[in-house]
Amino acid sequence: ESDVVRRDRFSGGPARAFLSSMDHDERLFEPDLAVDRAHVVMLAEQGIIDEASAGAILDGLADVEATDYDALDGEDVHAAIETAVIERVGEAGGRMHTARSRNDEVATCIRYRLREELLDAIDATLVLREALVEAAREHVETLMPGYTHRQAAQPTTVAHFLCSYAQALERDTDRLLAAYDRTNRSPLGAAAFAGTPFDIDRERTADLLGFDSVLNNSMDAVSTRDFLVEAASALSACSLTLSGLATDLIEFAADEYVEIHDDYASTSSIMPQKKNPDTLELVRAAAGNASAGLNGLLTTLKGLPRAYNRDLQEATPHAWAAVDAVAPATEVAAGAVATATWNEDALDAAAGDGFATATGVADLLAANGVPFRTAHEILAQAAENDGDYAAIEAAADAALDEPLSAVVEREAIEDALDPAASVASRDSVGGPAPEAVAAALDEAWAKIEDD
Ligand code: ARG
Repeated sequence: ESDVVRRDRFSGGPARAFLSSMDHDERLFEPDLAVDRAHVVMLAEQGIIDEASAGAILDGLADVEATDYDALDGEDVHAAIETAVIERVGEAGGRMHTARSRNDEVATCIRYRLREELLDAIDATLVLREALVEAAREHVETLMPGYTHRQAAQPTTVAHFLCSYAQALERDTDRLLAAYDRTNRSPLGAAAFAGTPFDIDRERTADLLGFDSVLNNSMDAVSTRDFLVEAASALSACSLTLSGLATDLIEFAADEYVEIHDDYASTSSIMPQKKNPDTLELVRAAAGNASAGLNGLLTTLKGLPRAYNRDLQEATPHAWAAVDAVAPATEVAAGAVATATWNEDALDAAAGDGFATATGVADLLAANGVPFRTAHEILAQAAENDGDYAAIEAAADAALDEPLSAVVEREAIEDALDPAASVASRDSVGGPAPEAVAAALDEAWAKIEDD
């Protein structure tokens, strides 16, 4: 009762709207109901409140659950739900807040909700990994130019390219899973920060809410938001993977190496011929929103003393911003990858562009006894001219004591100049050769099933 009176006394003034987190708290509505239920069940089991009050509170909570969020009124969702319960069940409702504080309550609610958000993000990374691996299976032999510094560098395959992102996303999934693990701990029962004299059972509420364990020290339990930092970091790292993938697809689409499906393209309001990769550009922009969330968290949390400070209220929406940026972008990226059509002819024709097989020929000379640095010089010289056999031969004659044909057969060099043969030869672990990629695909698939 007195709690209600005090809340009116301190929150009714001109700063009421400023203090309120109602606009951000809708995400914590369901979690708060769950936390309230677990707490009340535990209180009754421990004999801290009577069964009749507990029953009335649980009925009241069910009724509150059925009402519109916008009908709730309070400084935050936690206060608003408590007020709504008291309105419905009378004084007994006032027993709900025994042996707890909004400090442990809100921390528990955030963790409860963030678990779901992280699971959605984890699922999305799995769906994208599936899309990448499935598309890769179709293109183990599809040649494409590989780039460094945005210049054609060495031929590779579409499968090798797609697998590079599947592998990066494997780590993104891992990081999100680690963030989930550390989020999945219960601060409930820490009360304001100093615990409670009531004989509560923290393990029981943790169990009822599906947490792995109790966050022991009650002062840390209410103070820390490091789990939000960890989640936002994992999401930010994932957003970087997405942004790279988006850029590659945007550029490949511009080069007509890949066609983005109409479902993932936009048109221009003025230029009738245009088909623009807007969705992928938004996928790329998700990195900005994710890192804004992460930075918002870091700067809000910096230097906060123990224990609870209201600054923490402002931290939470930054974490949701990171969540909202990344999970949908990951889903859209998966759709864009799954529906994209790779233009095999254009890719094949471009795979050897820019003397992209020069490294392979240098490797061949080195394998036949020429110091790699000398081989590198010969091919650099040949690249200045036509980059064909004649150019290589002329450069070799100038650099070597013996004719090129004495070092390696012409046929082998012609072979190394061929993009397909060049790719096939690079069969080291993780390389682009079809057997190497096929093995990597099997591993990538097994890891998806595992995760
Ligand atoms: N809405 C608040 C938050 O998000 C709840 C905690 C309020 N606690 C307090 N001691 N004022 O942090």
